[in-house]
Amino acid sequence: MAETRRTATLNFDNKSIELPILSPVAGPDVIDIRKLYAQGDVFTYDPGFTSTASCESTITFIDGDKGELLYRGYPIEDLAAKSHFLEVCYLLLYGELPTQAQMVDFESRVTNHTMVHEQMHYFFRGFRRDAHPMATMVGVVGAMSAFYHDSTDISDPWQREVAAIRMIAKLPTIAAMAFKYSIGQPFVYPRNNLDYASNFLHMCFAVPCEDYIVQPALAKAMDRIMMLHADHEQNASTSTVRLAGSSGANPFACIAAGIACLWGPAHGGANQACLEMLREIGTVDRIPEFIRRAKDKDDPFRLMGFGHRVYKNFDPRAKVMKESADEVLGLLGVHNNPLLQVAKELERIALEDPYFIEKKLYPNVDFYSGIILEAMGFPTSMFTPIFALSRTVGWISQWKEMIDDPAMKIGRPRQLYVGEARRAYRDVRHR
Ligand code: CMC
Repeated sequence: MAETRRTATLNFDNKSIELPILSPVAGPDVIDIRKLYAQGDVFTYDPGFTSTASCESTITFIDGDKGELLYRGYPIEDLAAKSHFLEVCYLLLYGELPTQAQMVDFESRVTNHTMVHEQMHYFFRGFRRDAHPMATMVGVVGAMSAFYHDSTDISDPWQREVAAIRMIAKLPTIAAMAFKYSIGQPFVYPRNNLDYASNFLHMCFAVPCEDYIVQPALAKAMDRIMMLHADHEQNASTSTVRLAGSSGANPFACIAAGIACLWGPAHGGANQACLEMLREIGTVDRIPEFIRRAKDKDDPFRLMGFGHRVYKNFDPRAKVMKESADEVLGLLGVHNNPLLQVAKELERIALEDPYFIEKKLYPNVDFYSGIILEAMGFPTSMFTPIFALSRTVGWISQWKEMIDDPAMKIGRPRQLYVGEARRAYRDVRHR
C-alpha cells in the first residue's frame, strides 16, 4: 500500500473536503478521491484517463520524462541485453528473477502446455482464409474458455495459475496457426526441444515437406521483440483486461478482450500501420509531403510509430528496437533496404521539426519493429498478433495481481451526462 502523510483540500460550494495524498515508490503523488462522491456529491471528469491512476500495481514502472521502463524494478535495457523472454515472463508473473531450478521448472511447465486441444484445429476451419490473423486470434483465444473448462474458476488460485501458464504457452501456437491458416499451409505442431522464440519461428515458417532450421540470431531478435513488448503498465489493452476481469469474467475471455483492444491503430495496430505508411511514402523525397500532412489540423493523417501518451522524451524500447533492426538487416544481408532508409530519414526530419519537438513526439516501439518482422518474412498482418502474444504475459500478470488485490471492485466509471433532460413520450402521430 502506498504511503499517506499529506492531504489535499478541495473547496467548493461551501464544502471543504480533505483528500489523502498517496506517495508511490516512484512517479508522481496521487490524490485519493475514492470518498469524493460520498462526501462531496461530485465526480471527476477525465476522458482518456490522462490524470487518473486506476489501480495500485507492483509490476511495471514508466517514467515518461526520463524515458525509463522498469519491469519489477529492472531496466528494460538490462533485460533486453542480458535476459530472455521466458525469464522475463517469470519475473512479471511472480515478482522476482528465478533461480536456476525455478527457471527449469517454469520452462518445463510452459513447454508442456504449448499444444492446443486437437479440436481447436477444426474450430480454426470456421474462419475465412482471408480473415485478418487478429480477428482469428480474438475468436480463438475467447473460445479457449470452451476448451479448457478446468481453468476458468477464478476463485481457485491453482486454476488461475494453470490458465496463466496455458496462455503464455499457447498464444504463440495460436498466432502461428492463424498465420498458417491465412496462407493455406498446414499447421505446424510445437517443438518442445526449441526455445520459446525459436519454436514460434518454427511453427510459422516450417513446412512438413522439408527441414527448417531456425537461425539463432533471428530467434534472439524475436525473443528481444517479445521482451520489449511484454508489459507496459496500465495501457489501453491492459486496462481492458483489468476492466473485463473486474466483473469476474474468466481469464481467457479477459485476454481476448485485451487482444481486441490492442488491434486498434492507435495501440498495437500501429506496427502494421507504420509499415504500410513507410511503403506508401516509398522514397525519401516524398517525406516532406507526409510531414506536412501530419502537421495539418484538417488532415486526419498521423505519422504512425510516432508519439506516446506517456513517453515525452523517448521510448526506451524504440532505442533497443532500432539496434535490433540494424543487426537483423545486416545478418540477412538486406543492405540499403528502402523502407529502412525512409524510416531513418523520416526519424531525422521529424526529430528536427519544431512541430514534433514542441509536441514531444518521438519514435515509439512500433517504428522499427515492423521493419525487423518484415525482414524475417512476416506479412504486415502478423505484426499485431506478435505484439499480442508478447503482451499476453503482461496482461495475465496484471489480471492475477488484480484478482489477488483485496481492494478489487468491479470497474464502473461514471459520466458527465449532456443529453436530453427528462421528457415525455410522444405518440408517433404527434412527432
Ligand atoms: N503525428 C502527428 N501528430 C501527432 C501524432 C502523430 N503520430 N501523435 C500526436 N500528435 C499530435 C496531436 O495531433 C495533438 O496535437 P494538438 O495538441 O495540436 O491537438 C498532440 O500531438 C497530442 O496528441 P494526442 O493525440 O492528444 O496524444 P495522446 O497521448 O492522446 O496519443 C498516441 C498518443 C500514441 C495515440 C498518438 O501519439 C498517436 O496516435 N500516435 C500514432 C499511433 C502510434 O504510433 N501508436 C503506437 C503507440 S506505442 C505502442 C502502443 O502503445 O501500443
